[in-house]
Amino acid sequence: MKIDRLLEEIKSKIDIVEFISDYVTLKKSGQNYKGLCPFHSEKTPSFMVNQSKQIFHCFGCGIGGDVISFLMKHDNISFIEAIRYIAKKAGIKLTELTFQKGNISEKRNMIIKINEDALGFFIKNLKGSEIAKKYLLERGINDEYIDKFHLGFSPDSRNSLCRYLNKMGYSDTSIREAGLGTIDEKGYRDLFRKRIIFPIYNLQNDLIAFGGRVLDNTLPKYLNTPETEIFRKGEILYGLQLSKEDIRKKGYAIIVEGYLDVIVSHQYGFQNTIAPLGTALTAKHLQKLKLFCKKTILVFDSDEAGIAAARRSLPILAESDFRTKILLLPKGEDPDSFLRKNGSQSFNKMISNSMSMIEFILKKIKGDKIDKIRELLSIITVMKDAILADEYLRELSDISRINETILRNELNKLIKKPIKDLRSTGIGKPLKRNYLKEEYILLSALITYPEKAPVIFSELNINAIQTDLIKSIFEKIKSLSDNFSVTTLLEKADESEKFLITELSCNPGFDLEHVDRNIQDCLRTIKQRMIKEQQKWGEEKGDIVLLNSLLKEKRKLIKAEI
Ligand code: UTP
Ligand code: MN
Repeated sequence: MKIDRLLEEIKSKIDIVEFISDYVTLKKSGQNYKGLCPFHSEKTPSFMVNQSKQIFHCFGCGIGGDVISFLMKHDNISFIEAIRYIAKKAGIKLTELTFQKGNISEKRNMIIKINEDALGFFIKNLKGSEIAKKYLLERGINDEYIDKFHLGFSPDSRNSLCRYLNKMGYSDTSIREAGLGTIDEKGYRDLFRKRIIFPIYNLQNDLIAFGGRVLDNTLPKYLNTPETEIFRKGEILYGLQLSKEDIRKKGYAIIVEGYLDVIVSHQYGFQNTIAPLGTALTAKHLQKLKLFCKKTILVFDSDEAGIAAARRSLPILAESDFRTKILLLPKGEDPDSFLRKNGSQSFNKMISNSMSMIEFILKKIKGDKIDKIRELLSIITVMKDAILADEYLRELSDISRINETILRNELNKLIKKPIKDLRSTGIGKPLKRNYLKEEYILLSALITYPEKAPVIFSELNINAIQTDLIKSIFEKIKSLSDNFSVTTLLEKADESEKFLITELSCNPGFDLEHVDRNIQDCLRTIKQRMIKEQQKWGEEKGDIVLLNSLLKEKRKLIKAEI
């Protein structure tokens, strides 16, 4: 199937409102559906979905596009991956051929494919390895969860995986690019040797990397696939692809530290448990988690290192507007060891007794009370959710017994200082509104009423358009000629063009009843402006002929106006 045919079919089978409703709660509002933007943090909805044009646009951060660009941005995936996912959803069968042409991210697909083949090898190996099976048994992981998490084992050998992959037809470059092995003077060398393998998936269930744990006390205890084209360690939450439904259902995620903590927690019924891959929480992690919940419980060992780690995570959680509770396990325990010793009920009790961020800092952190209050105030200042911030402030006043008004004054002092713009970590740029009104409205009329294109283009000299962005959109519309629709235009548009096109699709910004008059007014203004400029130029050059003809045109315009 050709890619254009495929796109057409996808778009005929998928409704954008239905599709986005899986990610954002949408409510009908006039011509559009409205909801909270998933691409930036906001309290009042400025994210719009337009069903008739099948596009979305956020009036807060400016982002916009069709269903494919929604998924690409939302899940940070490539065009091809987005199509793959949506096609599957729409029940469209894809052949590999489809992608050989598109070729946008061949490498990505290659890495996923080689990882899948490597995983097959690791899983088969685990089945045949007594020591590995014994290890997992001792760690209390049952067969159901070994399967559920697709655990495997890499043999105690220098290069059996590389040789296996090579025999399957993968090139040395592919093996190296996937991070699965290297080549030195002695030939192939596997990255993972004699390790329990934890495959790592992204939200689309693509196998993007592996973690591997030794069976004994050798160092390093854990290894990860190095960062590749498709794997960035600080963005992935282990287990999220399996936990997302339960997280959504329960309304919160349990965040733990390690692979085995995640697996054991799931096995004990806490299927809303996830973990970063040995890194601190990042804004990127939270951006993904935010799709499924607004609350988290951080689980840490109550030793000094655990308390320090929990403390370090609080500002970023606050910045991302998560309500966070902290669960401190007895010293020396992690969720894995705790659950296996004490069972689910005890853990449940720990969850209900977990501390708020305020309680945690005031009671568990050593040091000066005033310093801790200031630390909390500085965390509260970065919250964008004013209601949440207010609630925390009240709690801070309650627990610290410091007058709320005083705390509020201190908070205001802190707020006046510039706060780091979170958008730098997200997608979408704030809108720049420096368009000329007549160009903006003319484009809007064209996007709202594509059938007006012939009239407009018969009158409009595109070179008279001053705003580059609007000009290039006009050029694209013109080149589409009879094929022009918002859908076909978006396929040709670049990112910043998409912002404007979708904005106008959701909110034309002019009086639709008087569209023809508006069009004529805009065309005239643009012409007048151009005449004026040419006149200036003609005067400078002393070009009488030009000046005369401009004068005539000007008269014609004035006549038309009357
Ligand atoms: P921990 O050292 O707390 O181990 O690392 P753990 O998860 O409890 O593992 P077990 O129970 O001893 O098997 C927590 C997480 O930090 C990352 C891993 O993601 C691990 O799960 N880590 C740890 C590494 O990436 N490399 C290491 O060498 C150690
Ligand atoms: Mn552990």
